[in-house]
Amino acid sequence: MNILLVGSGGREHALAWKIAQSPRLTRLVAAPGNPGMARLCEARAIGATDVHGLVGLAREIGADLAVLGPEVSVAAGAADGLTAAGVPCFGPTAAAGRLESSKAFTKRFADRYGLPTAAYRVCETAEAAKAALDRFSPPYVVKADGLAAGKGVVVAPSRAEAEAAVDDALGGRFGAAGARVVIEEFLEGEIGSLFALCDGETSMLFGWAQDHKRAFDGEQGPNTGGMGVYSPAPVFTPELVEQVRTRLVEPAFAGIAAEGAPYHGVLFVELMATRAGPKLVEFNARFGDPECQALMLRLESDIVPYLLACASGRLCDLPSPVWSDAAAICVVMAARGYPGAPKAGGAIGGAEADFGPDIVVFQAGTRRDADGSLRAAGGRVLNVCARAPTLQAARDRAYRAVSAIDFPDGFFRSDIGWRALQREPG
Ligand code: AMP
Ligand code: GLY
Repeated sequence: MNILLVGSGGREHALAWKIAQSPRLTRLVAAPGNPGMARLCEARAIGATDVHGLVGLAREIGADLAVLGPEVSVAAGAADGLTAAGVPCFGPTAAAGRLESSKAFTKRFADRYGLPTAAYRVCETAEAAKAALDRFSPPYVVKADGLAAGKGVVVAPSRAEAEAAVDDALGGRFGAAGARVVIEEFLEGEIGSLFALCDGETSMLFGWAQDHKRAFDGEQGPNTGGMGVYSPAPVFTPELVEQVRTRLVEPAFAGIAAEGAPYHGVLFVELMATRAGPKLVEFNARFGDPECQALMLRLESDIVPYLLACASGRLCDLPSPVWSDAAAICVVMAARGYPGAPKAGGAIGGAEADFGPDIVVFQAGTRRDADGSLRAAGGRVLNVCARAPTLQAARDRAYRAVSAIDFPDGFFRSDIGWRALQREPG
């Protein structure tokens, strides 16, 4: 099979790593890919939102399957374009992708189909948003409406900080994504990321993990796209997984199909495990980044049949995926300044060393100089992943590799996995 993989982040590097292991693969081409991916497959300089270019590339390589990595491709209508050109596509249409691209759409969708979520108000002016704050109590949750790469959410301890966040969001910081704000009830509980595949009709759970959204240790600092994850995560008891499946996943797929936009791809349910059960924090129309990286290290099944079934087949013909009992962890190394303006061009040494079979370093925001060396070229730069029989051992492995990597302009969290390790006896 010839496969076109769209995207250039750590998530896509992990997908490329896993797809490259498939016995069904003939040729893998990434658009645009990154220097790490270019060691595994062909990388072609076509952007993830260049639908016309992606369709042309898919035709050129005779793609039997296109796999959309990032949300920007989904929102740009890449699945619509590829499918219209006869290329089976893993990744929802732009219409189904509104579950991620508009928080206001998703909140109203949740109301229509009875999905448990935080109480909210959608506001188009700063005046309305500030008035809406009266209906909530601190801490206040203020969200830009559209795509903001995980950085459009502020949890504000005080009214003054909440009002500043409203002004910030509506003041153009997020472009069109900040044309509206959503004010939301603060949910108390533990956060989780669960993934479910859908072929338009049938769905199948596809792993879960716990992310660390804040920039710094001890859950301090601004929200990011995610600074590290681990899987399995003890927050996902069998009971919670079942509740997420029946209360969120299945009604979401049924609802979006009923609205004329059957879902083909992976739905990422970010949820809060509250005392009253799981509540939806947000949907994403793609794999999590860096959740995907940890999941790929644990997935024992060939991923290609699952991707293909979502695009053009029947998931019900496939068994549930097989996951290793091992724990996997991913530690993100980011460029200083992230999630604000990250420092570009920082030298990176040692990231491409051979760390053995249980440590994999995926690349995200990197570029390769003419002399072959790597430099930072983005916010999240490297994803250092490891697997081991226990989370503690996986974490030790990952941090050993982190310390072997020379990235003076980078930073990372040193407490990934703390919630699970705190629970472990002794
Ligand atoms: P989001 O971009 O919607 O995933 O939000 C980023 C992070 O903000 C989440 O991972 C949560 O940690 C936090 N967050 C978002 N919404 C809420 C909420 N209603 N209550 C508490 N925390 C929230
Ligand atoms: N790690 C969270 C996300 O991908 O949005």
